[in-house]
Amino acid sequence: MITYSAAHRTFILSLNRSSYVLQIDDAGRLRHVHHGVQTTATAPWVEPTPPNLEYDLTDLEFPARGDVVYTEAALRISAVDAADATAPFLSPQLRYEDHEVLPEAAPALAPTHGVAPRETTPRPTLRIRLADSTVGVTVDLFYRITAEHDVLERWVQVHNIGPHPFRIDHLAFASLCLPPGPCELRSLHGTWSRETQLHTQRLGPGVLSWEERGLNTGWRHHPACQLHRPGAASETQGEVYFATLAYGGAWSMRCEHTLLGATHLHLGYATESFALTLAPGASHLTPAVVSGWSNEGWGGASRQLHGFTRDRILPALPGEPWRPVLYNGWEATYFDVAAESQIALARRAADLGVELFCIDDGWFGARRSDRAGLGDWQVSPDCFPDGLRVVADEVHRLGMNFGLWVEPEMVNRDSDLFRQHPDWVLHVPHRASREIRHQLILDLARPDVREHLAAQLHALVAEHSIDFLKWDMNRYVTEPGSVAGRAIWREHIAAVYALMDGLRAAHPHLTIEACSAGGGRVDLGVLSRTDQTWPSDNTDPIDRLAIQDGYSLFYPTRTMSSWVAPSPNHTTGRDTSRSLRLHLAMRGVLGLAENLNELSAAEADQLRTGIAFYKRIRPIVQGGDLHRLDAGLMEPASVWLTTHADQTTAVLSLILPYAPPGTVLPPLRLRALNPDLTYTLSEIDRPDFTTASGAALMTRGIPWVDTVHQPNSNGTLPTPHARTILLQAVS
Ligand code: GLA
Repeated sequence: MITYSAAHRTFILSLNRSSYVLQIDDAGRLRHVHHGVQTTATAPWVEPTPPNLEYDLTDLEFPARGDVVYTEAALRISAVDAADATAPFLSPQLRYEDHEVLPEAAPALAPTHGVAPRETTPRPTLRIRLADSTVGVTVDLFYRITAEHDVLERWVQVHNIGPHPFRIDHLAFASLCLPPGPCELRSLHGTWSRETQLHTQRLGPGVLSWEERGLNTGWRHHPACQLHRPGAASETQGEVYFATLAYGGAWSMRCEHTLLGATHLHLGYATESFALTLAPGASHLTPAVVSGWSNEGWGGASRQLHGFTRDRILPALPGEPWRPVLYNGWEATYFDVAAESQIALARRAADLGVELFCIDDGWFGARRSDRAGLGDWQVSPDCFPDGLRVVADEVHRLGMNFGLWVEPEMVNRDSDLFRQHPDWVLHVPHRASREIRHQLILDLARPDVREHLAAQLHALVAEHSIDFLKWDMNRYVTEPGSVAGRAIWREHIAAVYALMDGLRAAHPHLTIEACSAGGGRVDLGVLSRTDQTWPSDNTDPIDRLAIQDGYSLFYPTRTMSSWVAPSPNHTTGRDTSRSLRLHLAMRGVLGLAENLNELSAAEADQLRTGIAFYKRIRPIVQGGDLHRLDAGLMEPASVWLTTHADQTTAVLSLILPYAPPGTVLPPLRLRALNPDLTYTLSEIDRPDFTTASGAALMTRGIPWVDTVHQPNSNGTLPTPHARTILLQAVS
């Protein structure tokens, strides 16, 4: 609900468990006054500011350079006409003009594919207009509230209402004011193969700023964070603020903490190389920031975002409530793709219970290695002499969906496409374009490039009856010269989203996995037109444990693809048991990636049984509420408990990366069960091995039964220990 008190010029946005309050002060400035516990108080919140402290005003809802001199601004604009030396920059002083409550509104880059998310009830959206008629600018601030998840989406629209063009030099989609006081920030950082590593730091005075100046979301920094008072939050308790971007183009996140104890967070476009000129009468609408507040700690903040993403972001295909068990042959065959061996793999996969069979890189053009063929999206007759349709038909006959890998944004120099259109790639004059993984980036700001890609992809999906695309993007940008000039930072990702949306609209059964050399493209923008992501190329279960733990901070497991990959691992060389790999992969969307033709009967049985068990736990794993439990004495174990909303089922997943002989699993208290119900506990190969009441499980803890981990029978080093337990209420 959104209310406005005219008497106190106060807006109150009421969500199920939180409120967001704004007030217009005597000078007409929009001040942020509260975000947190529910309130209905409209009484004056803001005191008149003594003139000598104006420059330190830290609660402006959308500070523009011009009003606030010393703190970071969410908007900076300058005059385009350089000849006008008296106005090298413009100083908008944004003042309240009007507001309205809309039944629903959408930010820029909202999906247009027409596949609705699970929940479509309209969400009231507040639009507040701030204006400076002297400079000739208005800024509309939008607030869309999803009350059931306590999530607020915010974005802005800037209009040029003056007679001259102006340039926007910096633009945030939203600016967040935190309550005054010390502040700790949790965020994700990494690199290829080591994505989404959790980093925690206490903010000192100054500005902490991250930017990804690329064409994907990026590996180094992640556009999401949690903030709280130091020491006052844990997995289960405390007030936590969170914010993330529904955008995967060049972005920035700037966090300013002042000596007065104020914390401001600005999320929006990357400032580096940013420029956007607005002609008189023109406007620019931004994508959204998704934010919220929880008083149930980091875990509560994660669950709010997970629920919001599942219900309001992800496309919901009718009849396909859960993501299917996948087979991907990349690590099994690499570029050695051939019809016969793929059909053999598909038959083994179907026999094990796989539901989606995906052929990775190497099926097209001259793509026998990563040096050639990228850009030529025609089936290679060398690999598939009778065409790919034969394989697709066989996969469908076996009862599975059929998927293909593509990397539409790229081209190898050694490709027909590049030979025909050398000018289609991003490049700057008089400088050689650097290749990374032997590839160049297509200039998606060019309409001919976009039309060509759309035609190629539509034909591919239609002709080969494709159900699933793994959409990859394998390099960072260098020499970003484009027909769009500096707008390429926005236009590239807009074109990618439009291509995905167009494909989905034309092929409503199609699903997509977002991949960018592992986890380089994970954000709520891409997730609104895809179904899952590939969080990392690192498939070593020990390394992936931290990657998945970090991922779970912001993204639901329903989107987290995870494979049982070959061992020794191809990235790290580490040998791990298939059991460990299976338990880890069962935390997300399970996939297999071994060469199934080389499995012994016993190994195949292990996977078959694992998949059957996964299908039992999948509705909870993919649709339940995730609680990251305190591992207590078992540090550095990772313990995930996923509970169904009605508390009748739950899945416990324990992974202990190092368990020397003699390791004792201490009782571990569960949460979010019904104390009055009795639960049966089952593991992959131990159906109903014990029963316990919800009360006992939440007070005394889980009865492990087999509590002492034995030394390895083969005398090798102590191995990790993993368990996955299904809890079902006895009716
Ligand atoms: C990237 C992806 C991998 C695989 C290869 C294929 O590295 O992240 O999963 O698809 O490309 O070339």
